[in-house]
Amino acid sequence: MKFFIDTANLDQIREAQEMGVLDGVTTNPSLMAKEGITGHENIINHYKAICEIVDGDVSAEVIATDYEGMVKEGEVLAKLNPQIVVKLPMIKDGVKACKYFSNKGIKTNMTLVFSAGQALLAAKAGATYMSPFIGRLDDISTDGLGLISEIRLIYDNYGFETQILAASVRHTMHIMDCAKIGADVMTGPLSAIDGLLKHPLTDIGLAKFLVDFKK
Ligand code: G3P
Repeated sequence: MKFFIDTANLDQIREAQEMGVLDGVTTNPSLMAKEGITGHENIINHYKAICEIVDGDVSAEVIATDYEGMVKEGEVLAKLNPQIVVKLPMIKDGVKACKYFSNKGIKTNMTLVFSAGQALLAAKAGATYMSPFIGRLDDISTDGLGLISEIRLIYDNYGFETQILAASVRHTMHIMDCAKIGADVMTGPLSAIDGLLKHPLTDIGLAKFLVDFKK
């Protein structure tokens, strides 16, 4: 299972990278804005900075919503670094653009996926990654993890190679449930990754070892 961090915060990306468990980064326009990164040039420079910190794939989202615009933006993004994955919205022109990039061997991530039908289309278009937003489904009392299971079944039925990238992961249990279902990747906040570490018996056991060592 790959671990991506879902942030544009360089300190958090660095911290996850230093732990040695990071496989990539996902960003989106909202996460960029949260870090105060605005304007084309600043955004491009920020992607470059992220690529310098991590070794793995870095999703960079297009802003255009028409096919020509997405292709133009995606080409620019893909040229920044081989680590860049062109992130495209799950709309008809996004599917067309996905097919265009996959034919050219450029990595893609279809985002804003909320149904198994959308996931099937993303796979048919040759997406490298496809991102169902599980937290946002949970927010509206719809089963986000249930969607991951449904997509896993469909992809396995046909051997689709598109990777299920569980997104909008909000907490540690989302990660554990995605791991049980077999999501290929999860992207979440640093706090959710850190949560995997925590166990009171580890802390108690370590404290006892240290006390005993001093005896
Ligand atoms: O990975 C998608 C993500 O950035 C959306 O997360 O928490 O805004 O639903 P959230």
